Amino acid sequence: MKKIFLKLGKQPLANSFLPNLRKKTLNNEFFYNLNICFDTKKFLVSITKPVNPKSQYTDKYAHRASESKTMRNAFKKIAHKLNKKYNPKLVMEIGSNDGVFLKNFNSKKVIAVEPCKNLAKMTKKNFKTYDEFWNLKLANKIFKKINEKGIDLIFSANTISHIPNLDQTFTGIRKILSKNGILVIEDPSLFEVIKNNSYDQFYDEHVYVFSTISIDNLVKKYGLRLFDVDKITTHGGSNRYYICKSEAVFKKSNKLNNMIKKELKFKLNKFITYKKFAKKVIKSKTDIIKLFKKLKSKNRKIISYGATYKSTTIFNYCKINNRFLDYVTDTTKNKQGKFTPGTHIPIISPDIGINNSVDFAFLGAWNFKKEILNKEKNYIKRGGKFITHVPRIKII
Ligand code: TMP
Repeated sequence: MKKIFLKLGKQPLANSFLPNLRKKTLNNEFFYNLNICFDTKKFLVSITKPVNPKSQYTDKYAHRASESKTMRNAFKKIAHKLNKKYNPKLVMEIGSNDGVFLKNFNSKKVIAVEPCKNLAKMTKKNFKTYDEFWNLKLANKIFKKINEKGIDLIFSANTISHIPNLDQTFTGIRKILSKNGILVIEDPSLFEVIKNNSYDQFYDEHVYVFSTISIDNLVKKYGLRLFDVDKITTHGGSNRYYICKSEAVFKKSNKLNNMIKKELKFKLNKFITYKKFAKKVIKSKTDIIKLFKKLKSKNRKIISYGATYKSTTIFNYCKINNRFLDYVTDTTKNKQGKFTPGTHIPIISPDIGINNSVDFAFLGAWNFKKEILNKEKNYIKRGGKFITHVPRIKII
């Protein structure tokens, strides 16, 4: 049974940065109710009513995975590790974005799947690219074109959690995976979300926030088996799941057994855990408004660092707009000059925005904290402060 535990209110699409604030643009802004539920049987946490993917993954999709050094390095490292350990003859990535993972492989043995046409265009030059949504139909189409042995390595980072239809997703994967092929999925970890109170991991694109116990349970239905897991630091704490066909040779690792034990001990299988989390989320909202009001009463200038999808959830849930934040800085060229979804705060380049007049910068991109604090040594040196909400509201 699905039970709602968190209501994050009316939200726009996290990716829908506005090009201007004209009446027509504002009238056309799309909002939906962001309610999060827990399935007490499947232990699966999801958005109650997901948005139609066709309105999300368009040819205007803004996110470029290779914008961040952290992500470029992380993908390079895992690509080399998988290549060395499994030596795959054929590799496919579901949700290949701008090719940041695939570029680490020989282009002849790679298939890219990316429904955002602007991104697919970027990988088409070097890799066989399908600019379509991943589903059973596409799996059958690709299967007809490749060696009937199937694909040895299917990789998908921050994508499977975005696809509402899990039946199509995993039936297609089972169809196309070779006998001892592996599916490697990376997605934000529910365990980390609950521990860190990072409720901003809930936004329209994150239809699911997976736990190890939910993935373990889920894939069995499709003749697949979870056999290993890595805890990784990307996207504020994620898991990398290793999945194979149920009949494949891989043995279940001790690491996986330990992770499952840990999650059960933390009661990720119990509704009460989510009720408690929801209370902490409400406190986080009260605390951030209190802090911003206090700083504004002292005439401090506050900005936000990183026009992230995650901060869309925070700004809209906590009603944070121009009354608190002067602007948001972001390094992504196609976000600059635009306005934040729902809250309409201008987005500018950090080259202009990070200057001596700034007193506080809210870490919208908190998952890149290390990279940012390293980069902004001058800002910190002259007394500039950061504010984070993870795991609780604090000034750093
Ligand atoms: P993400 O968390 O959704 O990947 O988005 C991170 C955003 O933060 C992305 O738009 C780039 C931006 N960003 C900066 O503006 N400066 C930085 O130093 C880093 C690491 C990210």
